[in-house]
Amino acid sequence: MANFFSRIASKRVLGGVAAGGVGVGTVAQQFSTQKQATILKDADAEFNKGYGYFDVVKLPAGFAPFQLKNNYPKPEDISAASSSASGLPPVPLPGPDLPTPSLDPRKDAPWLNVDFRTDPMRYCQIIKAYCWEGNSNNNFNIHKNTVRPWYHAPWMHWSENGREPINGLTFERVTPAGELSKNQQRRTQAWAIGFYNWIGATVFGDIWRDPSHPKWDKHVVFPLGTCVFKILMTEATEEEVACLKNAPTLQAVIATPESAANNNAGKRKDKAEPVRLLQVDFAVRDDRIKDPAQGNGWVFGTFMYNGNLNNPDAWDNIIPVGLQWGNDPTLTPEAVKAGRKPEQSWINPDADQLLTDLGGTRADKTKRWGVGGRLNGPVDNFKSACASCHSVAERNLKENIQMLPKQGPTFMRWFRNLGPGESFNGGDKWSADYSLQLMTGYFNYQLWEKSAQGFTHKLKVIVPFSTARQEQKVLEANSRPLRAEKDEEDVD
Ligand code: HEC
Repeated sequence: MANFFSRIASKRVLGGVAAGGVGVGTVAQQFSTQKQATILKDADAEFNKGYGYFDVVKLPAGFAPFQLKNNYPKPEDISAASSSASGLPPVPLPGPDLPTPSLDPRKDAPWLNVDFRTDPMRYCQIIKAYCWEGNSNNNFNIHKNTVRPWYHAPWMHWSENGREPINGLTFERVTPAGELSKNQQRRTQAWAIGFYNWIGATVFGDIWRDPSHPKWDKHVVFPLGTCVFKILMTEATEEEVACLKNAPTLQAVIATPESAANNNAGKRKDKAEPVRLLQVDFAVRDDRIKDPAQGNGWVFGTFMYNGNLNNPDAWDNIIPVGLQWGNDPTLTPEAVKAGRKPEQSWINPDADQLLTDLGGTRADKTKRWGVGGRLNGPVDNFKSACASCHSVAERNLKENIQMLPKQGPTFMRWFRNLGPGESFNGGDKWSADYSLQLMTGYFNYQLWEKSAQGFTHKLKVIVPFSTARQEQKVLEANSRPLRAEKDEEDVD
């Protein structure tokens, strides 16, 4: 427990406050067995919650509540027989609500048949079709998908930036005025929701076998065939960002402008409003690159909405922005200055043009997409990149988790191609294999557990002052936007 608090207290967002020795044990010991039993029961209930964080997140009248899909399959459900023959992912078992699929494994990880380096466009199209099938026609209510089972990551609700109540979106990042487009005159919030395919969801099924006793005691490796994608929705309108023309919408209860100005979603509006599709991210396990100098075993990719495509179904109006299969570990800032370009990212020239036409600060050559020309999305900070930020994903109870690369001598630590079994900080900081939802959800669970033990707002009066201060810091650390540093500087 001391480790837990020292980790929180030393988080960067707290300005490096040193951990105080706090007698938390004394309070914890006061709990009766009965209280412990209630906590375990509550842990089960929380595990199944789609939304809800104290009284921050409330469902407005007239809307159906977001429901989590968390009946995860387990690794043993992956039939060894079908995987051993081809080395390709096995046939997924049908979910309880799905017809028995007659799936050829090659067809159910169809991107593995295309070389992403020689045909990146087709690779993106195949993944988009896979993610859209049965989902885009149901407004991404995965419970209604009759083609293929998809799942939500657990515990993404329990934080100030946690899931909103209608579509389960989490707060990602605030785009400063003028960043995306010359017409964007206010800060705009981005909210998102991610989905794991059947094979990827087995990792959650394994760790959360018992929701009140999660077990994460080794490096996680997502199986070959894992696909996870995320739709990012913005409050910006077509008037602000022209390419949002006819963008598909979802209803969401987002943060108040004051809260967003503070870079958190701790205060939500009291009514729903439409948010529009701007970006779609994905990550697939693809282990065809064997040399760690050349790749990291995942391919990250992103799409951007472009209403000018005018497809009959607006959800289809997305163009690939690019792919990233490695961090370009030797592409130092000096090399970038000398004109070297990334070799482990691919950027679609059409997306470059789209960003240029919008005329925001991101159109500047040095600020478009990710750092050093690596891939990042339109909603992201140009000081980072997909695989770089995701490489920090680990189970870590002690250290800082800093997502944006730190300037200075350690900068290139954020650009390693970490492989299976390697984590950012090494040792027993078990790797989350690039899954930041696994890391965030597990972290939220730990915060919840400590607060259920008594360190909540409500109990502040009865705990010693020092403990209350620590608890305040826990909550403060918890208010960082998911996809950004709390104190990130976006505009130079
Ligand atoms: C500055 C950090 C950061 C950057 C840059 C970033 N992400 Fe993420 N990403 C996150 C966080 C945090 C989460 C988990 C929280 C959530 O989903 O709301 C996440 C979640 C995801 C997920 C869901 C699965 C998972 O790993 O949790 C996918 C897929 C994803 N991101 C893809 C991308 C792609 C593709 C890019 C680049 C275009 C990208 N991300 C850039 C921080 C980042």
